[in-house]
Amino acid sequence: MYLSFKICIILTFGVTVECGKHFRLGRSSGGILKAAAEPVRHNAPAKWFNQKLDHFTPTDMRTWKQRYFVNDSFYDSKHGHIFLMVGGEGEANPLWIINGTWIDYAEQFRALCIMLEHRYYGASHPTSDLSVKNLQYLSSHQALADVANFIKAINEEYKLDSNRVKWIAFGGSYPGSLAAWLRVKFPHLVYASVSSSGPLQAKLNFNEYFQVVEQSLNAKTSSDDCVNSVKMAHKELEALMEKSTSIVEKNFRVCVPFSKANSYDVKNFYSNIADYFAELVQYNEDNRLSVKPAYKNITINSQREAI
Ligand SMILES: *[C@@H]1O[C@H](CO)[C@@H](O)[C@H](O)[C@H]1NC(C)=O
Ligand SMILES: *[C@@H]1O[C@H](CO)[C@@H](O)[C@H](O)[C@H]1NC(C)=O
Ligand SMILES: *[C@@H]1O[C@H](CO)[C@@H](O)[C@H](O)[C@H]1NC(C)=O
Repeated sequence: MYLSFKICIILTFGVTVECGKHFRLGRSSGGILKAAAEPVRHNAPAKWFNQKLDHFTPTDMRTWKQRYFVNDSFYDSKHGHIFLMVGGEGEANPLWIINGTWIDYAEQFRALCIMLEHRYYGASHPTSDLSVKNLQYLSSHQALADVANFIKAINEEYKLDSNRVKWIAFGGSYPGSLAAWLRVKFPHLVYASVSSSGPLQAKLNFNEYFQVVEQSLNAKTSSDDCVNSVKMAHKELEALMEKSTSIVEKNFRVCVPFSKANSYDVKNFYSNIADYFAELVQYNEDNRLSVKPAYKNITINSQREAI
């Protein structure tokens, strides 16, 4: 039974391989596999900013060290533009302070580039551990206040005239939201924001995401065979779950039998399977689908060969 699930996937990606070659969908031909295959890390020296732990309790004077990086190679103080890459839910990669579209823009606009790591990620540890009690300070509200506090301090350190200096915030995905919120909340500090793919509308049961996954698979394979195979496989899995979970447990090597799982576990199981296809689309040709090097370069198009 599992075999037929697998065959569905093989069929799915078989079609993809045949037709996918002709499609680019906004990415360079052949993807960006080569560039990302060997991640380059840059040894830009880190700087440390004394940041407030709790911006909303005036009596709480505790501070911690927030990491940031600066690239002043293009900076022309007469222009006074400051580019800020807002950190998000992951370690800030020092490579981003020397490479990327925003660095190209910085060269053009003679900007000072600063990248600020998000609290609780990478080397920016506001608390000694991640206990539930300490996680109360992990929020987008605190993160936005971090940025505002940071901007004010840098204005002072670089002796920037706060009436004339133009801070432009950049961010993608969650930091894209942060960048947009920064401009809304602190218009006196942030002159403009570039919010890339910033999710700004919260929606429960956000199935539109999977509609995009479906459209992308269809477009990439120029047929709906692929999506139909995935649908069939999911239906088959659901039928199996009703009939005999032991087959599913065995083939998916689940840690805990479904008889001992609560409804959240089951939801999580289905979500993981759906996510496999979602991530294949979202990170296609990005070389970061897996932490294991051997699976990093999995793409929609490489699936047939891989299987
Ligand atoms: C800034 O970025 C440019 C472009 O990558 C690089 O050549 C330069 O060395 C960087 N400067 C610093 C101080 O990191
Ligand atoms: C920076 O990006 C350019 C392409 O824009 C690439 O040629 C170069 O190898 C990159 N440098 C590093 C250190 O990744
Ligand atoms: C993907 O990476 C693995 C291991 O790093 C390598 O053996 C394989 O040739 C790569 N496949 C492609 C299509 O580049």
